[in-house]
Amino acid sequence: MDMTTTLVDHTFRKDVRRCFEQQTYALPARWLYDRRGSELFEEITELPEYYPTRTETKLLRDHGADFAKAIGEGRAVIEFGSGSSVKTPHLLRALNPAAYVPIDISGEFLEHSAAILQEDFPDLPIHPVEADFMTRVELPDAVADLPKLGFFPGSTIGNMIARSSVDLLRFMRETLGIGSQLLIGLDRVKDPNVLIDAYDDSAGVTAQFSLNLLDRINRELEGDLPVEMFRHVATWNDDYARVEIYLEAQADMTFSIDGKKHGLSKGQRIHIENSHKFGLRDARLMLRAGGWSPLCDWSDEQDYFTLILAEAHPYKHAP
Ligand code: AVI
Repeated sequence: MDMTTTLVDHTFRKDVRRCFEQQTYALPARWLYDRRGSELFEEITELPEYYPTRTETKLLRDHGADFAKAIGEGRAVIEFGSGSSVKTPHLLRALNPAAYVPIDISGEFLEHSAAILQEDFPDLPIHPVEADFMTRVELPDAVADLPKLGFFPGSTIGNMIARSSVDLLRFMRETLGIGSQLLIGLDRVKDPNVLIDAYDDSAGVTAQFSLNLLDRINRELEGDLPVEMFRHVATWNDDYARVEIYLEAQADMTFSIDGKKHGLSKGQRIHIENSHKFGLRDARLMLRAGGWSPLCDWSDEQDYFTLILAEAHPYKHAP
């Protein structure tokens, strides 16, 4: 067992304990992505109701010439949380970059997707970095002197609360440096019915994705949670402009995790994910708070999804 696995086990156990022992009834969304969870998320991105991936990919495909003009050639493209890197080829084709650096916490996924990408871009230097990008990341020496473009697609920043998203943007600024650019994908505020459908699809894949978290607890922490007695619930919280995902107990129950007994009453909800949605002004404010000056943006005709290009300028004295 390597160090990363030990650390993950330890933090997962700590978070699950806090959820049930201190009755916070909340679990960080990062635990949704074990191997099965990552597979299910890939399935989600292809669902008819889940518009974000499709819409963002089309924006990346359609605006190649605009990106080339606004960003230029010869940058190192640094992708944060690259995962399976499916959207990346469109951007790389448009920009003809000097290098590509995918950063991901899962080394296994990273090497695999880098190898696939290398087949399509045989002359592009690819330098995968296995790291947690929620803090400053040390980039490879090979890209130290190149101008940089950070790429953070998928509205992944929407899974963070405001404080963490601004922290992350600041870390990205530190990682990339002054003068760098950032292309970030953001899911927009829209009709709540469209949003709820996207997070509670008719085929039940998103429900499986949520419920897999309970399976994971059972698998990894010797639990016997009755998974079939929980229901996936997606609600729209207008004050926070976010979809909230819960697992709701359908009956009173007792179960054990890690040798400890716990109980839940019927109707108790465990909060497992937030997916914030953005107005354009909210998005610009968030970027500025994180040290990034918005330069331009691209949206689809329904304003469902937006890509914003921003730049890290030196801080100025403000009035
Ligand atoms: C990864 N993230 C941007 C997805 C989202 O839309 O918030 C995760 C997800 N959860 C359920 N469906 C998709």
